[in-house]
Amino acid sequence: MLIEKPDVPLSEHEYILRAKQEWEHTFDAVTDLIFIIDLDHTIIRVNRAMAERCGLTAQELAGRKCFDVIHGATCYPAYCSHERLVESGEPQTIEFETEQLHGTFEAFVSPIRNDAGHIIASVHVARDVTEKRRSEQLVAAQQKQLEEFNKDLESRIAEAVAELRNKDSIIMQQCRLSAMGDLVNSIAHHWRQPLNNIGLIVQSLQLAYKSNDLTVDELDAEIADTMEILQQISDTIDDFRNFFHHEEEPCSFSVNEAVARSINFVMPSLNSKGIKVVTAGQADINVVGYPNEYAQALINIIVNARDALVESHVGKPVISISISGGDGRSSVTVLDNGGGIDEEDLPRVFDPYFTTKKSGKATGISLYMSKMIIEKNMNGCLAVRNVDGGAEFRIEV
Ligand SMILES: Nc1ncnc2c1ncn2[C@@H]1O[C@H](COP(=O)(O)OP(=O)(O)O)[C@@H](O)[C@H]1O
Ligand SMILES: [Mg+2]
Repeated sequence: MLIEKPDVPLSEHEYILRAKQEWEHTFDAVTDLIFIIDLDHTIIRVNRAMAERCGLTAQELAGRKCFDVIHGATCYPAYCSHERLVESGEPQTIEFETEQLHGTFEAFVSPIRNDAGHIIASVHVARDVTEKRRSEQLVAAQQKQLEEFNKDLESRIAEAVAELRNKDSIIMQQCRLSAMGDLVNSIAHHWRQPLNNIGLIVQSLQLAYKSNDLTVDELDAEIADTMEILQQISDTIDDFRNFFHHEEEPCSFSVNEAVARSINFVMPSLNSKGIKVVTAGQADINVVGYPNEYAQALINIIVNARDALVESHVGKPVISISISGGDGRSSVTVLDNGGGIDEEDLPRVFDPYFTTKKSGKATGISLYMSKMIIEKNMNGCLAVRNVDGGAEFRIEV
């Protein structure tokens, strides 16, 4: 009961008057805009909030058409909730924007019926949702912006990844080219001697023939020598071809053999520069991985040691290779006495394209390639440090 309990008993008339005042207070206390209209859209009553919003008094509003007051129109709009309510007999909810009341409103429209149950009027409770809608719109716009940003970010990441992949594949291509260049060089070195020898045999045959000194036995012997040399040449081709055979699956292989093959690969060019190779350590070290790639990584390191030794003009150039390991693990160190690597360059020698060599042939990718092979493909570790007047590379697999 809203009506305060009176101190003195009230007459029925006074009681009704109090109740009316009470109801009017309540009606006016509601901050939503409330108005009641008759079947003809004529305003019967408005609360204070509605009057204030319209800039008129409740008395001034009473008797005016709601579409005039609310929409500034001369007749009700097509979406008129009051019309719908009368037509359907059901309460209505509607949202509308109006310049007259400066905003967006959500309105609940309920029927007022007479004793016979016929609708005689409707009560409209309109809540100003301008701010709410504005912030919803703002949130939606921000959300959309965020989504677009995300989409943009995704595509930018995809682009960057593609670019990196592309760069990676370019680097890998260059690695292959560089390895191919080494291969051709090495073949040239390997063939120089036997080709010279064949040349000498052919010349001596010619001389012997011209001076009528050539016996059948001598001819047979020279031909046998030549065939042997040709066989050597043919063998080196097979060796190199096997070397560059791409390995699909990892396999168990002998580290000692891989080291020996790598040394053999670069031996002619080391010999021609007077560089000695000393190998020491344990025998029969086996690991699982890619033997050809492993040997390629090692060759890159030995070739660098050779370059450093040539560059440094050291008196007794030596490359010392040491093998140790066991239980499926191995450690191979390659040490030279070529003066080592500048301390400030040490962290960068494995970076792609890092080179300190003046020669146009230097690519700066062979150590990057070695690092990839050992660490990415074989889960091992490749490290470098300066030791005793030279650089020491350690390959752990
Ligand atoms: N044994 C070494 N002694 C001195 N410096 C080395 C040695 N190995 C590598 N480096 C340095 O690392 C750099 C990068 O080597 P690498 O990736 O093989 O490229 P590149 O041989 O084409 O320069 C070399 O330019 C050199 O400065
Ligand atoms: Mg190199």
